[in-house]
Amino acid sequence: MRMRFKPYAHDELMAADFHVHEPLIWGGRWHAQYARPEQPFVLELGCGKGGFISQLASAHPENNYLGIDITDKVLILAKRKIEAAYQAAGRPIDNVKIMSTDIERIKGVLTPEDTVSRIYINFCNPWSKNASSNKHRLTYPRQLIQYRAFLEDGGEIYFKTDDDDLFRDSLEYFPASGYEITWKTFDLHENEPAWNIRTEHEGMFTEMGIKIKALIARKLPGDETVTWIEPKVLKKMAAAEADAAEAAAHGETADA
Ligand SMILES: C[S@@+](CC[C@H](N)C(=O)[O-])C[C@H]1O[C@@H](n2cnc3c(N)ncnc32)[C@H](O)[C@@H]1O
Repeated sequence: MRMRFKPYAHDELMAADFHVHEPLIWGGRWHAQYARPEQPFVLELGCGKGGFISQLASAHPENNYLGIDITDKVLILAKRKIEAAYQAAGRPIDNVKIMSTDIERIKGVLTPEDTVSRIYINFCNPWSKNASSNKHRLTYPRQLIQYRAFLEDGGEIYFKTDDDDLFRDSLEYFPASGYEITWKTFDLHENEPAWNIRTEHEGMFTEMGIKIKALIARKLPGDETVTWIEPKVLKKMAAAEADAAEAAAHGETADA
């Protein structure tokens, strides 16, 4: 997504009290940042222009929400959509926050004490053109394993994408990262669930005639449920095994 630089974004975001100005200092204390700390805590990763979180959070005052994106350039639009949605709902903005953070470095920003009930990942960048860049996908196992630190056991990840490669790979990523896929569809709009809220990218891809793929995955308890091994580690293991087999074969020849 190409966005023009918006120099006013910083000042406007800093003036909004639901924008988290210092993301790195709240680890372990996120619940206490909300008017009703006892409520379930829900994340949207890569919230973009905020169409999704503004509608979801303003309709569900019984949950607390945090929308995260890497760039202020879209968060400024999310900020405005949140203000508009809460004004329309006639509610104070007391159960949603937004912040700019690199989700690949989320470890420590959120900790096990921040117990998250649910995570939404909507139309994350597919990184499909180059296999070695796949590790930046927000559903790549390295990331899914990081989320395990703060997602409660049984907590769910709702994931939607337009991208066939990303969806196919994610069907493998989730189980290997200790999640059970409890529901999936290759055409979300064929029988659109009542809970679905269409995002900006969902609208755009749907207009282009691209089917939306979606799944719900539940976090399984216990580190033993994580079976993922990085491809480069697997490669090294295979090479070491091949070397050992070759050495053994030479040894056998020398002995003969
Ligand atoms: C394709 S857009 C989708 C936006 C929105 N969820 C939607 O469905 O319309 C992906 C968003 O993820 C954000 N993003 C990508 N990588 C990220 C990262 N590592 N950390 C935080 N945000 C990221 C991008 O800035 C962008 O806003």
